[in-house]
Amino acid sequence: MKIKNMYSVFILIVFAIFSSCENFDNPQMHDENQITNSLSNRNQLYIPEVVSPGGLMLTAAPGTTDIGGGIISATWEFNGNLPGPTIKTNTGTIASILFQNNLPEESIVHWHGLIVNKENDGHPQDAVSSGGNYSYNFPIIQRAGLNWYHPHPDMLTGKQVFMGLAGAFIVNDAEESAFNLPSGNFEVPLIIRDVTLNNGGNINYQPTAGGMFGRSSMVNGSMYPYMKVASAVYRFRILNGANARVMNLAFTKNAEMILIGNDGGLLPSSSIQNSIVISNGERLDILVDFRKFKTGESIILRDLNAQWDLVEFIVTEKKMPLYNGALSTSSNIQPLSNPVVTRTFSFDGMSRINGLEFNMNRIDWTVPLHQTEMWVFVSNGNGPHPVHVHGASFQVVSRTGGRGRIFPWEAGWKDTVLLDDGETVRVLIRFDNYSGIYLMHCHKLEHEDRGMMANFEVI
Ligand code: C2O
Ligand code: CU
Ligand code: CU
Repeated sequence: MKIKNMYSVFILIVFAIFSSCENFDNPQMHDENQITNSLSNRNQLYIPEVVSPGGLMLTAAPGTTDIGGGIISATWEFNGNLPGPTIKTNTGTIASILFQNNLPEESIVHWHGLIVNKENDGHPQDAVSSGGNYSYNFPIIQRAGLNWYHPHPDMLTGKQVFMGLAGAFIVNDAEESAFNLPSGNFEVPLIIRDVTLNNGGNINYQPTAGGMFGRSSMVNGSMYPYMKVASAVYRFRILNGANARVMNLAFTKNAEMILIGNDGGLLPSSSIQNSIVISNGERLDILVDFRKFKTGESIILRDLNAQWDLVEFIVTEKKMPLYNGALSTSSNIQPLSNPVVTRTFSFDGMSRINGLEFNMNRIDWTVPLHQTEMWVFVSNGNGPHPVHVHGASFQVVSRTGGRGRIFPWEAGWKDTVLLDDGETVRVLIRFDNYSGIYLMHCHKLEHEDRGMMANFEVI
């Protein structure tokens, strides 16, 4: 439970002013007061605690969260927080996580983006009932990147994620460390989503088949939070954690985004972007250089689609911390080639793939290990459909129809790709690690829960 009591902040400030007249002459103190006043009762951006996956106990349970504006909401949380703790580890380590389900209904946790075997993938078949637990044990065998975790029970995923169950799962490796990118306070996870509250101020999940679109934005569990930043280079690890809303992210003041990575880690090369489209479940890794801004300046991350202010960054420290890290990156990514099989999947209506609704015990196709395949995703209306595959990352090779091109943030390795109405997206994919049953589905969670999901088996 995170409660930032604004009354105590106010009393502290009043106390500070009255207890020491020197403060009236202290320009820094003056600055602080102005900022505090102008922010009224908005929350400071919440940064989840960082934990190791080695021997982690992860409990999902009802709780309360201060989401800002004086509102304490009833939510569902991992380890008492929304978002849950940031799990962080290095390639080559072992994750051993005990999931305890203290929700009033069944659940199971999926590690979105992690390459694990079926037993550790959080398949709906493995859901545990209320009060039960599930023990995960898997090696981290992939490259650095921002992954995330969320519940995946059959037909209940949308509700449980919307109620607040999600967190970041960051993997680091030597290739990434060599770039000496901003870290510690300068590496900031941003889990961006939307939310609707009922009259009591509690999260209200009332989906339609077209998706649950919340009425306000929420970043790291707060509505329109702010963060005080130094005039330094920051690294933002961004997840679109909304159930259904596709966003087009941009900063005000023409602050450029240096795009360095996406779902599957560093891109072949970084590039400068003014706006980036991110659909449900996709991730971005960007650098923002605040050194050109003056103390007191405010730079806002916005969603240009909804015209929402998402989070405000206020430059409060003039001093420039020395930055020896990279302002551009590159990564040697071996392209997949020569697919031996092409499979076509049409995303039909709001609940079917190739005409079929999900049945968790039916396997719709099999894929040999180590075989490169081309998967063709076709939209048949009612998009956007963010297509997500478990068990492997893929490479996007073309998009025809609709937007008709691949975007710079779709290079490298992906596990989720936006398929908009009228589009055909081709990807190359190869399963190299585990045989077993995996899922492919639309990551608009209301489509997934209604059946726009399929099992396939790697053999
Ligand atoms: Cu993020 Cu199968 O899900
Ligand atoms: Cu996944
Ligand atoms: Cu869909």
